[in-house]
Amino acid sequence: MATYQINVNGQTKKVDVDPGTPLLWVLREELKMTGTKYGCGISACGACTVHVDGIATRSCVVPVSLIGNRKVTTIEAIAQDPVGRVVQNAWVEKDVVQCGYCQSGQIMSAVALLKATPKPTDQNIEESMGGNLCRCATYVRIREAIKSASQQI
Ligand code: FES
Ligand code: FES
Repeated sequence: MATYQINVNGQTKKVDVDPGTPLLWVLREELKMTGTKYGCGISACGACTVHVDGIATRSCVVPVSLIGNRKVTTIEAIAQDPVGRVVQNAWVEKDVVQCGYCQSGQIMSAVALLKATPKPTDQNIEESMGGNLCRCATYVRIREAIKSASQQI
């Protein structure tokens, strides 16, 4: 076990965990922030996506020991971000969500995309969102919501 101080959503959080503990489980189990979901555990589905220093990151494969001073942002705080708020509203406007399980990760990836590329092409969207799987196949509405958000940024 080791003690880590990590910056999550602008607050410093102290956790006492094994160094190899994935960030996902620190968020969900230690910090009780359950908005970030577990899907595959092997960086293959995108359900666990958070931002680390603004980069969309699969939290299931990043050990807490590698976070250091980097800023972690989760779905719980995305509405406090101007782009995040626009994206969340676009998700509601386009009624994207079906079961909802994948959607935290989808939104985190979409926000990272739009911050880097405010006016994405279909190819940009495909490349950035292709790693976020949705069993309910909401892909068409996700794309519509990203385009709608893009027009409002
Ligand atoms: S749970 Fe992390 S990518 Fe699937
Ligand atoms: S909305 Fe059900 S898995 Fe995506």
